[in-house]
Amino acid sequence: MTHVADAARAPYALLGGDAGVRELVTRFYDLMDSDPAYAGIRKLHRPDLSQAREKLYLFLSGWLGGPQLYAERFGHPMLRARHLRFQIGVAERDLWLACMSRAMQEIGVEGELQQGLYNAFFKTADWMRNREA
Ligand code: HEM
Repeated sequence: MTHVADAARAPYALLGGDAGVRELVTRFYDLMDSDPAYAGIRKLHRPDLSQAREKLYLFLSGWLGGPQLYAERFGHPMLRARHLRFQIGVAERDLWLACMSRAMQEIGVEGELQQGLYNAFFKTADWMRNREA
């Protein structure tokens, strides 16, 4: 019983399930790729963003409470370890969050959900930081 109720309230469902997660990731990387405001983090990525798009989509599906697609394919994400080869400080963290915030706004994520997701994204992004400033 509670399982069903929890599943219905999971951010994954509120966001519109698989299609919603795809849309968010597509908008996030389209923005990062096209707006020079995000150049500081775009340059850390490969020229071809298709792998980044696919992996963020797979990861967020599970992270938001939906199917654990990333773990099924690749095992534990070891997210912090995988980000160690990129210099991530406050500036990079904040650019990532700004880009994600704008993506959420542009695809019409409703206010309370958007705020909740922002807080969760903030914690994860700050945890990825591997430089003081
Ligand atoms: C804090 C600022 C962040 C920066 C600068 C950053 C940057 C990057 C870069 C450059 C890659 C490599 C992409 C490629 O394959 O070309 C990557 C991979 C990835 N990032 Fe981030 N990231 C940040 C935060 C986050 C956050 C908050 C999440 C999740 C909520 C996340 C999830 C991922 C995932 C799942 C991958 C793929 C990992 C893999 O190789 O399997 N990142 N990130």
